[in-house]
Amino acid sequence: MTSSNSIRMEKVCYSVGGRKILEDFDFCLERGVNRTILGVSGAGKTTILKLLLGLLEPQAGRVFIGDQCITGLPESRYVELRKRIAIVFQGGALFDSMTVGENVGYRLFEEGRLSIGEIERIVLEKLQFVGVEQALDLYPSELSGGMKKRVAIARALAANPDYIFFDEPTTGLDPIGVYNICHLMQRLQAGGTTTLMVTHDLATAFVTSDRFTFLHKARQVFEGTEAEMKASALPEVQEFLQPTDRSLFVLHAEKERKTTWNAATR
Ligand SMILES: Nc1ncnc2c1ncn2[C@@H]1O[C@H](COP(=O)(O)OP(=O)(O)O)[C@@H](O)[C@H]1O
Ligand SMILES: [Mg+2]
Repeated sequence: MTSSNSIRMEKVCYSVGGRKILEDFDFCLERGVNRTILGVSGAGKTTILKLLLGLLEPQAGRVFIGDQCITGLPESRYVELRKRIAIVFQGGALFDSMTVGENVGYRLFEEGRLSIGEIERIVLEKLQFVGVEQALDLYPSELSGGMKKRVAIARALAANPDYIFFDEPTTGLDPIGVYNICHLMQRLQAGGTTTLMVTHDLATAFVTSDRFTFLHKARQVFEGTEAEMKASALPEVQEFLQPTDRSLFVLHAEKERKTTWNAATR
């Protein structure tokens, strides 16, 4: 695997308001290896995706798309490279004032390289791929949560990216919606797209990914396969896989603290 076929981070540090989100974080998404980054809410998963896309600048360390280091470069210098990557944001991030079709075709239309007829053909093809072509002329407000996610995926597919990032694609969906998204991810992978997902949904992660990165306290504490993760002796990994009394104990302590506080201030 050559470096031109990967998206990487080297020793990235990123803090917000003095709080370390990532510290000396190394990461590599190789083309053809579908990966999930696991971690609790607030661990910094979305931050990693934004750093890999160049939407955030690290305070230290470097990010590479292929051979090109994008850290410190003006966006105009890596905009072409970034077209190899698409992201499906957690909420879908659809434009409410545009129809589904306009949302999916928006980028292609903005680029101005294709005719309207060609864009319409691509939009329909992508909507058919995700199974929501009947929603072509609807507005996002008229769609269910699962349909919105699928439209967001169709939009990501419009530019035929090599890599697609999925930010918590199954959060808030019912079991059928979760199944649909996992199935879609598998079909994309079979077609040659490399997926990077961030989630805390283990079941989804295990059916859609080859390798796993576990983020804990600003660091990568584990990297490996599902079997390696399940066999890991690291307590933080085991705690994540099978939350025990200890995590419930934390919640209980929190409840106690609130009860005491309420009693004291009543
Ligand atoms: N723009 C921001 N301003 C302040 N804090 C932020 C901002 N973005 C993220 N954070 C904080 O950074 C941490 C990591 O956020 P995020 O990457 O969204 O976590 P995750 O996606 O794992 O839930 C969180 O604690 C969040 O509160
Ligand atoms: Mg997030």
